[in-house]
Amino acid sequence: MISMAERLGMSTQNKLKLGIFGSNCSSGRAATNVPERWSGNWPDNLALAKMCDGAGIDFMLPIARWKGYRGTTNFMGAVLETITWAGGLLAKTNRIHVFGTVHAPLIHPIVAAKQCATVDLISEGRFGLNMVAGWNSDEFSMFGTKQLEHDTRYEYAREWVEIIRELWTREGEFDYHGAFFDLEKLYAEPKPYGGSRPAIMNAGASPAGRAFAIQTSDLLFTLLVSIEQGAKTVAEVRAQAAAAGRHVDVYTSTYCVCRPTRAEAEAYHHYYVEECGDWEALDHLMELAFPNPEHRATQMGFEAIKRRFIGGNGSYPIVGSPDDVAGELAMLSAAGYTGICTSFVNYLAEFPYFAQEVLPRLEKLGLRTPK
Ligand SMILES: Cc1cc2nc3c(=O)[nH]c(=O)nc-3n(C[C@H](O)[C@H](O)[C@H](O)COP(=O)(O)O)c2cc1C
Repeated sequence: MISMAERLGMSTQNKLKLGIFGSNCSSGRAATNVPERWSGNWPDNLALAKMCDGAGIDFMLPIARWKGYRGTTNFMGAVLETITWAGGLLAKTNRIHVFGTVHAPLIHPIVAAKQCATVDLISEGRFGLNMVAGWNSDEFSMFGTKQLEHDTRYEYAREWVEIIRELWTREGEFDYHGAFFDLEKLYAEPKPYGGSRPAIMNAGASPAGRAFAIQTSDLLFTLLVSIEQGAKTVAEVRAQAAAAGRHVDVYTSTYCVCRPTRAEAEAYHHYYVEECGDWEALDHLMELAFPNPEHRATQMGFEAIKRRFIGGNGSYPIVGSPDDVAGELAMLSAAGYTGICTSFVNYLAEFPYFAQEVLPRLEKLGLRTPK
């Protein structure tokens, strides 16, 4: 048996959960031409997962991406499908939790429910589902699927998640009649592992996205612009969840450059972003993410956003010495985040230094327990 609390705790006592994000994609999350950029291939993913499992990292989170962003590197052009990727990694690791990321509008919930249950059984309860509502019009055209209007995507997703949860937990046959799905005599066996179900995660920055996550998810990923804004967002989400009688763990996403000194970390960041960035891929990504130029007047300015996208696919940068990196992670924990995922330009080359220098500092701060 495995309880929902154990699943959400990812079987560790770590106050601050740490995860690795986006290694299933070529170039990972850095749109850069540097020759050491991430391969995203299977042998490298497997080696990374084993390394992270051994170091006590809590989880790995993949990106569901069906088509690259073009440019000189075709950023994220070669991407391992996330549920099969998770199944492979979970079969070959011992304790790390691994998520699958699924586009609700592109995969039928009956198929997704069974895939997730299968991988959950393989891993004895170490699998989680990250549901995404979708936004990338290149991918939707490829599938021949019309994107719904923004807020309606979440109404669809609500039914999609509801069907999956029922398939995971309900015995026998049942009908589902919603606005988007009209399904008869639904049935799914086997159920997920150990008498509970995989944790459900969702990222939504818009009011509709956040409301959806608060109502339906166990973990909410929020966008981090600054630590001050992050603390405010966590407090708001906690209050909204409490008002709805729910508890939602709040996570966020970063990218990391950790070197012996801050100057070295900043120099490498400058090199791979400013000197070697794949700006052509970035231009296409920006056209997709912000099709309406009026929406480019964001909180932090469009040029700064672009740099964050080159550096780490739009996430919050953590660039510095081990003390700097541990300090920033501690501030994010103090801001109320339960967990943080991060990425590196070359995960296999950079993770060992992070594990050796940053993890012990977090242990000393009481944020993580020694493995
Ligand atoms: C941690 C995290 C993971 C995400 N993973 C994916 C993904 O794999 N594929 C995808 O198309 N979108 C992904 N997204 C984008 C979200 O699903 C969503 O489109 C975005 O947060 C905007 O939400 P909004 O439309 O509610 O503002 C991710 C976002 C975050 C923060």
